[in-house]
Amino acid sequence: MTKTVKILGLILFATLMVLAMSVPRSIEGQSTASAQPAEAPTTALDARKDDLFNGFGAKGSPIDECVSAPVANRSFEDNKFIFNELESLEDGLGPVYNDAGCGSCHQAPIIGGISQSKELRAGFATFNGFVNPPGGSLIHLRAIAATIQERLDDIAPNYKSTLRTTLNTIGDGYVEAIAGGTIGNIRNNQPFGFKGTIINVPVAEAGGKLRVARFGWKNQHASLVSFSGDAYLNEMGITNRFDGNNGQMENTSMGASVEEYDAVPDPEDDGDDVQAFANFMRATRAPGRGPITPAVLRGEDLFHKAACSICHTPSITTAPAGTVINAGEFTVPAALGNKVIHPFSDFMLHDIGSGDGIVQNGGEATRNMVRTPPLWGVRTRVEMMHDGLELNFADAIQRHAGFGGTFSRNFFNNLSNFQKADLIAFLKSL
Ligand code: HEC
Ligand code: HEC
Repeated sequence: MTKTVKILGLILFATLMVLAMSVPRSIEGQSTASAQPAEAPTTALDARKDDLFNGFGAKGSPIDECVSAPVANRSFEDNKFIFNELESLEDGLGPVYNDAGCGSCHQAPIIGGISQSKELRAGFATFNGFVNPPGGSLIHLRAIAATIQERLDDIAPNYKSTLRTTLNTIGDGYVEAIAGGTIGNIRNNQPFGFKGTIINVPVAEAGGKLRVARFGWKNQHASLVSFSGDAYLNEMGITNRFDGNNGQMENTSMGASVEEYDAVPDPEDDGDDVQAFANFMRATRAPGRGPITPAVLRGEDLFHKAACSICHTPSITTAPAGTVINAGEFTVPAALGNKVIHPFSDFMLHDIGSGDGIVQNGGEATRNMVRTPPLWGVRTRVEMMHDGLELNFADAIQRHAGFGGTFSRNFFNNLSNFQKADLIAFLKSL
C-alpha cells in the first residue's frame, strides 16, 4: 500500500467517524454515543415483596373488579390484572387451547415467571426430516369439547414428540430493548465454534417486517407484542390482530376445522389485551440475584473459565432511550433504555446436540438449534432445558455437546468436586 492510499484511507475513515457520530440517534442497529449506562433495577423474585414495577408508564393501583373493571394499557396494575385474567367461552377461549390465562403458566415465584406447565409439540420423522402434522407442530392439550380434543393417536405410529417448558417473561422489556446490532456484536466477539446463529423473524405489529429474533426456545419472535399475539391464539385460542393471521384463523383439531364450536366473531380481541400483556412485561424489573457468597464468587470465575459465559453472556446494555425498535413500532422508553442487564444469554441459536428437530420461524437450518436460555432466574427452574428433562445443573451441563458445548462440559467434568459445587452455587445464585 502506498503512503497516499494510506492517507486517503485515514481521511475517509475520519470522515466516516464524524458522519457516524453526527447521526441523530434513531434506528436500532446504528451505534450511537450515549450517556453512561445504568444498572437495570431488579426484583427479588419473592411474592411477598411488591417490587416488580420498573417505572415504565404509570404504576396505578391494584384492581378490585368488584369496585371497577381494569382498563387495558392504563397502568401497570391494570395490565398485570389482564395478564392474570382467565378467559371464558364468551371471550372465545379455545376451541382447542392449552390454558385459560397467561398468568396460569407464567406465575412462579411471581406473576410473569414460570410454572411446571409444558407445551406438547409433535410431527412425523421422515427421511427428509421432521414434517408437521396437520394443523402444525403444537398439539393443544385441552379443548372445550371432548369431540375435538387433539390426540397423538391420530398421527401414530411414526410421530416424534417433545415438550417445551415455560419460559420466564420477567425483565423481557429489557431484552426487547436490545438493539439487533448489539446481538451482532456479541456474535462477532464469539470465538470459532461458539458463534451463535442470528435469525430475523416477522414482527406482527409491523406487518411482518423483520427484526433480529430473541424470544422463545427457537427464537421464534423479536417483539413482545408479536409473542403475546401468538400466545393468545396458540395457548388460549383467542384470535387477535397480532396473531400472525390478522385474527382471522382459529386453530384446528389435528387439521379439522373447529369453527362450529366457536360462536365469537374473529378477531376475538381487537389487540388491546395483547398490548396490555406486552406492556405488563415491559414494565417488569430484571430478575435479581440470590445471596452472593464466597462459593458463588469462586463459581462465577469457573463459569468464565469453562467458557459458559461465551454463550450465556453475562452483561448486555440496552439501546438508548428514543431508539425506534420492532421494525418501527416501538420507541425505547427512558425506563428501559441504556440499561445494563445480566441475562446470561446471547439470545442466539446454537446446536448443542439437544435440539428436537422442529422448525419454527427460523427455517430449515435451525431444525436442531435452540436459543441459549437466559440464566437469570434459573434458580426457580426445577425442570431444565427446553424439554424439562434435566432435573439438576450437572445433568443440564451434560446435555451440552457440539464444539463449544463439549468444551464447557469437559471443563466442568474435569473440575474437582469442590469446584463443581462452587460452579453450581453460582448457578443457584442466578
Ligand atoms: C399453557 C401455558 C402457557 C400459557 C397459557 C402462556 N404461555 Fe407463554 N410460554 C409458555 C411456554 C411453554 C413458553 C416457551 C414456548 C417456546 O418457546 O416454545 C412460553 C414463552 C413465552 C414468552 C417468551 C419468553 C422469552 O423470554 O423468551 C413470552 C413473552 C410469553 N410466553 C408470553 C405469554 C403471554 C403474553 C401469554 C398470554 C397471552 C402466555 N405467554 C400464555 C407457556 C404458556
Ligand atoms: C455453545 C453455547 C453454550 C455454551 C458454551 C454453554 N451453554 Fe448452556 N445452554 C446453551 C443452549 C443452547 C442451551 C439450551 C439447550 C436446550 O434447551 O436444549 C443451554 C442450556 C443451559 C442450561 C439450562 C437452562 C434452563 O433454563 O433450562 C443451563 C443450566 C446451562 N446451559 C448452563 C451452562 C453452563 C454452566 C455452561 C458452562 C459449563 C454452559 N451452559 C455452556 C448454550 C451453551
